[in-house]
Amino acid sequence: MSEHTIRLGPFSPPLQSERTALEAEAQALGLAAGGGRAAAVSTQPGAALLQVQGVSIDYRTRERVVRATHRVGFDVHAGDRFVLLGASGCGKSTLLKSIAGFIAPSEGQILLNGHAVTRPGPDRVVVFQEFDQLPPWKTVRDNVMFPLLASRSVGRKEAAERAALYIDKVGLTKFADVHPHQLSGGMKQRVAIARALVMQPQVLLMDEPFAALDALTRRRMQEELLSLWDEFRFTLIFVTHSIEEALVVGNRIAILSPHPGRLRAEVNSHQFGLHSLGGTEFQATAQRIHRLLFDEPAAGAVPGSVQADAEALAPGRQGGVPLVNPQRPAGSLPFQISV
Ligand SMILES: Nc1ncnc2c1ncn2[C@@H]1O[C@H](COP(=O)(O)OP(=O)(O)OP(=O)(O)O)[C@@H](O)[C@H]1O
Ligand SMILES: [Mg+2]
Repeated sequence: MSEHTIRLGPFSPPLQSERTALEAEAQALGLAAGGGRAAAVSTQPGAALLQVQGVSIDYRTRERVVRATHRVGFDVHAGDRFVLLGASGCGKSTLLKSIAGFIAPSEGQILLNGHAVTRPGPDRVVVFQEFDQLPPWKTVRDNVMFPLLASRSVGRKEAAERAALYIDKVGLTKFADVHPHQLSGGMKQRVAIARALVMQPQVLLMDEPFAALDALTRRRMQEELLSLWDEFRFTLIFVTHSIEEALVVGNRIAILSPHPGRLRAEVNSHQFGLHSLGGTEFQATAQRIHRLLFDEPAAGAVPGSVQADAEALAPGRQGGVPLVNPQRPAGSLPFQISV
């Protein structure tokens, strides 16, 4: 794995020559040599790939401090499709940016392979919601090749071969030589996904990548993402505020409370996929998650508490769906929701 740092984010149109713009872009991507690695801490055998431990994140403005997330903790294992689900403003994007290394936590820590994350790195690549995250002056092929070349991960020939493979995997071979403005929103997001996967990151971070698409395209993109995952088995952290999307895309879901985001519960959702849409179990689980998100009491529950939902989701409950992540040690489930 290269020692260079990558940031894949939204770009402005080029105002300078292509060469200067490339340098500026490389700088914006954080492609300074020697970046991306943090001080090693002790790695425990069998530890999760990514550990988020008691992470609070604050934004400091001149007038005040805004707490975006409060003491959030979870583990992500290799091959997980881990979803961060929560209402608008609960700190999902902030948490994702912190995992990417763009924002430092105010307390707690984030470990990747036992190393503290302190800055961006090519082992964590982000796909954003915005369609303008691709430099418009580059063709699809050049967009996908760029992070490989800029990070000097591989030579031009291998970069071209790898780009061609991932462009093919997202179904855009015929469009390899066109520019982003000639593509639909869904096609641009496919390019962004190819550009991320070509780096073979340890963790692929996606921030509501399909939210700006129409319903049909969104569904198709979810399907394509799942089939890419089937083929490459990458580790995914996926942000959404759609319960349905969380259940379809994720195998595990972290449910965050409204602002500031706290971890309410962790739900196993591996049994759901596009095939389960509209099914009874899917609907019932979606309703339970809705209550966990918005703190509505379940029928028969103590008012002002979601304990009943937590129990309904607990493993082994008679007639209940075994959804709560069994990997967590007993007693550590984050159901501190009573108001
Ligand atoms: N640059 C910033 N300066 C100050 N406060 C910020 C900044 N960015 C985000 N916030 C605040 O942090 C909180 C979390 O924001 P964030 O964008 O992470 O939420 P989110 O869950 O991603 O929301 P959405 O679903 O709408 O994208 C919000 O209260 C927001 O106003
Ligand atoms: Mg967001």
